[in-house]
Amino acid sequence: MTMYAKNNTAGKNMLSLLEWNKEELTDMIKLAVAMKTNPAHYSHILSGKILGMIFDKPSTRTRVSFEAGILQLGGQAIVMSSKELQIGRGEPIKDTAHVMSEYIDAIMIRTFSHEKVEELAYHAEIPIINGLTDLHHPCQALADLMTIYEWKDQLEGVKLAYIGDGNNVCHSLLLASAMVGVDIRLAMPKGYEVDETILATAEKLAKQSGATIFVTEDPKLAVTDADFIYTDVWTSMGQEDENAKRLADFGEKYQVNAELACFAKPDYHFLHCLPAHREEEVTTEIIDGDHSVIYQQAGNRLHAQKALLAAILEAK
Ligand code: CP
Ligand code: NVA
Repeated sequence: MTMYAKNNTAGKNMLSLLEWNKEELTDMIKLAVAMKTNPAHYSHILSGKILGMIFDKPSTRTRVSFEAGILQLGGQAIVMSSKELQIGRGEPIKDTAHVMSEYIDAIMIRTFSHEKVEELAYHAEIPIINGLTDLHHPCQALADLMTIYEWKDQLEGVKLAYIGDGNNVCHSLLLASAMVGVDIRLAMPKGYEVDETILATAEKLAKQSGATIFVTEDPKLAVTDADFIYTDVWTSMGQEDENAKRLADFGEKYQVNAELACFAKPDYHFLHCLPAHREEEVTTEIIDGDHSVIYQQAGNRLHAQKALLAAILEAK
């Protein structure tokens, strides 16, 4: 056990952010900033640790940043596709969880159903990290908070507007904001609202942190006076059949463009988890413009996840 991780975080899962409290998340963000500033200082802290990564969906950022991250901390990664594992031929998750626990130190999984990740975590004797499900994308939210913190030097009271689909990225951003005190405003059309249970949980967390949550159908109301504007694709992985309907339902009203951005603070920043569809949820002018910090945000996936890995693995 060294100074980098706290005893009580070792061995914890990261499924939905809710396994962590405000102080732990804030410490993780601060550790991520320290790791970004001085990576060499942390280059051996996970020596001998092996992270298994299972993918049921494509990935660029999550895959490469987790693999680079564990290597930079002195550990190693094994990247797997479910199709190449016996799980793809119907082997129970329970058996997979127990067997993998014999070989490796943690599993990061990207899949469709959130229940599958919960089942894996229930049976595994090692920490499970959610690398995106249909319901949550907690590792993205860690990098998002880190990016906000880098610009504002604080999280509490920062005004964040999310425009678009009430999806996995939005759910994790909402929970993260509510936990640490970021004021979040969501604008989405009818039929694309956030999950009611997640919203209710976020509202409870916001009462404790002092964060405010505002949900509207009007993007202009959400963006007014915002420090950050965030959007994500209108059609997530697995929803490709709904693409035409979604394009029509979101339309120009929910696009982040120069007309909408005018309502934000003059020094606002634009965020997007990526990959993006230029000229759909955001115009090229905005995503490639001066206010956009998308590459810093994507880069922070590396540092935030290194801090997460340290928190859950380093003290074991
Ligand atoms: N934002 C994100 O998770 O990107 P990938 O799908 O490339 O991993
Ligand atoms: N909402 C998107 C995020 C991709 C990182 C999806 O699930 O496809």
